[in-house]
Amino acid sequence: MSAPLPRLFTAALAGLVLCAGSCAPDTPSPTTAPTTAVPTTTTTTAPPVDEHGCPVVGEPLRSVSAIGGIDIGVAYRPAYATDDPCYEVVAGREFDSLTPEIATFPNALAPAPGVRNFADADAVCDVAADHDQSCHVHAVVWDPVDHPEWGIVPDWIRELSPTDRRAEMIDLVTDTATHFRGRVRTWTVVNEAFRADGTLWDSVWNTSGDDSYIFDAFRAARLADPTAELLYNDFGAEDLNAKSDAVYDLVTRLHAEQVEVTVDGEQVLKPLIDGVGLQGHFGIGPGEAPAMASMRANVDRLAAAGLSVRITELDVRVPVTDGVVSPADLATQAQIHRDVVELCVDAPNCGGVTLWGFTDRHSWITEHPDTFTGLGAAHPFDAEYRAKPALAAMRAALSGG
Ligand code: XIL
Repeated sequence: MSAPLPRLFTAALAGLVLCAGSCAPDTPSPTTAPTTAVPTTTTTTAPPVDEHGCPVVGEPLRSVSAIGGIDIGVAYRPAYATDDPCYEVVAGREFDSLTPEIATFPNALAPAPGVRNFADADAVCDVAADHDQSCHVHAVVWDPVDHPEWGIVPDWIRELSPTDRRAEMIDLVTDTATHFRGRVRTWTVVNEAFRADGTLWDSVWNTSGDDSYIFDAFRAARLADPTAELLYNDFGAEDLNAKSDAVYDLVTRLHAEQVEVTVDGEQVLKPLIDGVGLQGHFGIGPGEAPAMASMRANVDRLAAAGLSVRITELDVRVPVTDGVVSPADLATQAQIHRDVVELCVDAPNCGGVTLWGFTDRHSWITEHPDTFTGLGAAHPFDAEYRAKPALAAMRAALSGG
């Protein structure tokens, strides 16, 4: 369990940010880089800016992540950088790795029969390479049954026969792993296969009513890219519960199956999977974030089974009223960020934490206001790329401060 925030830090919060997220009507147009001239409702002076006009907010996370021994990453979407230079500047400055936010979903990779589009994901990995960051592949085998409006699985795949759909899944995983082999560090191969009660979703990929499709997907990924870290990824499975029990049962069986692959010219046996991605989409209300002791117990049982974990999609939604978040809620949001990062730092099998967006200016939270009515401001940077308390909290967790 983590220590509470240092006294000085919590005291500082009291007089600090009153406005987080979209502080309309004071925010500048998203088509311009923020400047120090932006009016704010904070009582502090505006932070200094770098040569791009982007706020400089202290020691970058990636400068302290090595102290904690973990990787701090972020989901990245190149479209957000259009007309907003600070998006790339700050992402490049703060994070160790980038995950294409939407570019490795099946609708992006396989838009039409016989077509593979890797350009969008390549663009993200190129940005990562420009900033000396690693790159991840995310959620290739995914069908969010509860969100058909997201259009993640293209209709042409839905219309295939079950046999052809299984073959297409294996081809898609093989093609993607082959394309990115040597360029990506981690893969979340299969995403969100389980309902909350631990039963399998009737996903479009589940063509046989059992989990054999998950084994087929991981086998294909491992054979095509023997060295990337392969993860099963889900939400609501962070702590001990029916879903995480089902995930544990699945991944231990995946780990027990081995295939022969060639690594550095040697034939070796490797398990189908390396670990589990715990998404970490949290809130500050009752039951909206797991008890850290329970999450730690889940991480520990995976370690005992020889499996790694990564927090893959951390964000912490808070109530936003007329663009304003209360200091108390920002402090709670900061504490959750601190707890999660500390948990990862303390757990020998946790490789890192990826944030699902870093600025309240644009992220999947701002993109889906109907899904998150009355909530938002889920990230450690505000809409003007100024630091929120969660940033210092993560920095402290990483540096042991
Ligand atoms: C989200 C993207 O961020 C959105 O842009 C998209 O509209 C829907 O998917 N769990 C996941 C992520 O595993 O891939 C999802 O990303 C958020 C929930």
